[in-house]
Amino acid sequence: MYSDKVIEHFQNPRNVGEIADSDGVGKVGSSVCGDMMEVYIKVKDGRLEDVKYKTFGCGAAVASGSMGTEMVKGKTIEEAMKITNMQVAEALDGLPEEKLHCSNLAADGIRAAIEDYLSKS
Ligand code: FES
Repeated sequence: MYSDKVIEHFQNPRNVGEIADSDGVGKVGSSVCGDMMEVYIKVKDGRLEDVKYKTFGCGAAVASGSMGTEMVKGKTIEEAMKITNMQVAEALDGLPEEKLHCSNLAADGIRAAIEDYLSKS
């Protein structure tokens, strides 16, 4: 049902936690399942110097947060803003159809954190 990449990121999630002095925070919830994700970003010279996340979600959400944060770390704000849930799901070698909404939490959370940063700067 799940790809090896999903299982690996679920078992060893990258970038879990908070950034105490973050420049932006995105808090999103899924209208499908009610689960939540928080994404924290640290911005330097227009790039995401650090990205962390916490989720109150399922295994697919854990893996999506791990992969999504890895994908945008080091990217410019403009590049990171374009991330989609399908890109996250594809980078995980796919998610089951009924779990695609879980990858929305990662992509939406990252974009929400960037929007928070932009609204402050
Ligand atoms: Fe809620 Fe996956 S079922 S995030």
